[in-house]
Amino acid sequence: MDVENGIDLKEIERVGYHDAEIDPALDLFAEIEKMKKEKNAILLAHYYQEPDIQDIADYIGDSLGLAQQAERTNADIIVFAGVHFMAETAKILNPSKKVLLPDLKAGCSLSDSCPPSLFMKFKEAHPDHLVISYINCSAGIKALSDIICTSSNAKAIVDSLPSEQKIIFAPDKNLGAYINRSSGRDMLLWNGACMVHEIFSLQKITRLKERHPEAKMIAHPECEEAVLRIADFIGSTTQLLKYTQTDKSKTYIVATETGILYQMQQASPGKTFIAAPPDNACACNDCPHMKLNTLEKLYLCMKYELPEITMEEELRLSAKKPIDRMLELSRQFGLV
Ligand code: 13P
Ligand code: SF4
Repeated sequence: MDVENGIDLKEIERVGYHDAEIDPALDLFAEIEKMKKEKNAILLAHYYQEPDIQDIADYIGDSLGLAQQAERTNADIIVFAGVHFMAETAKILNPSKKVLLPDLKAGCSLSDSCPPSLFMKFKEAHPDHLVISYINCSAGIKALSDIICTSSNAKAIVDSLPSEQKIIFAPDKNLGAYINRSSGRDMLLWNGACMVHEIFSLQKITRLKERHPEAKMIAHPECEEAVLRIADFIGSTTQLLKYTQTDKSKTYIVATETGILYQMQQASPGKTFIAAPPDNACACNDCPHMKLNTLEKLYLCMKYELPEITMEEELRLSAKKPIDRMLELSRQFGLV
């Protein structure tokens, strides 16, 4: 038997670690807490993770906050409860640390909408343009970019550049168009979008607003223009959460992935949060990628230290430059 740290590696290889048996009597919360200490591991989670994972995370945040936490951690292992591009960003910033993602299949439709080979041709066709890419992209796209941004710093980054600077913005056309409108720019947009934020029904939200005239409608900038136009506030997940904590209203219609409602409700127990309806009857405003991670997979991932994010050093170094630039600009803007 090929055993390491009491783990039968051959058996894990045979059944796949996701299917490894978990003793039903185990308290997974206690086990995960124990492993965090024993392995000097930090658990970073995005707001779109299921509530159990949010409850046990060391840090919950938006993409910028998560990247900043990944940059400053002293842990030996970073367990990333989020999607692949987020864990990949953590690895780019921490080559010597082990970075784990509970389910390696947790991808992102927005990231997938921008393959590096096609984007390379697009970029080559516009050689005088600076490339700003939203962090929701692969390391390959990051390596082709000049500056990375997130939804919380995109406008500030674009505004910091001279007005005559020509810019390609990728991969989210909705966020790019929102910044074009709010900053008066004419950035060239890659035609990508998020499957979750494009599904909201303007008609149903409008009807909901009529039924709840007291409610504020708040939206993530990955939503389509028509939805953003009727929003009272637009921001990243952290900005949306903070808004609901400081704003005086009692009811909110929330146009983003439903996971954030858990934190909103916890932060403001006396307020009502209504998930903005999608344009069909399914739970399409749950991100199927984010929701691939479960408490069970998190436990197994920490136990077996699998699956691990790995990367070619040349790619990592090229992808790191535009992330470093974003982190430096964010420090200058006071976004820490
Ligand atoms: P933020 O949490 O940075 O706003 O990003 C939202 C998102 O869609 C992450 O995939
Ligand atoms: Fe990607 Fe959209 Fe899911 Fe975020 S919510 S991970 S952008 S598919």
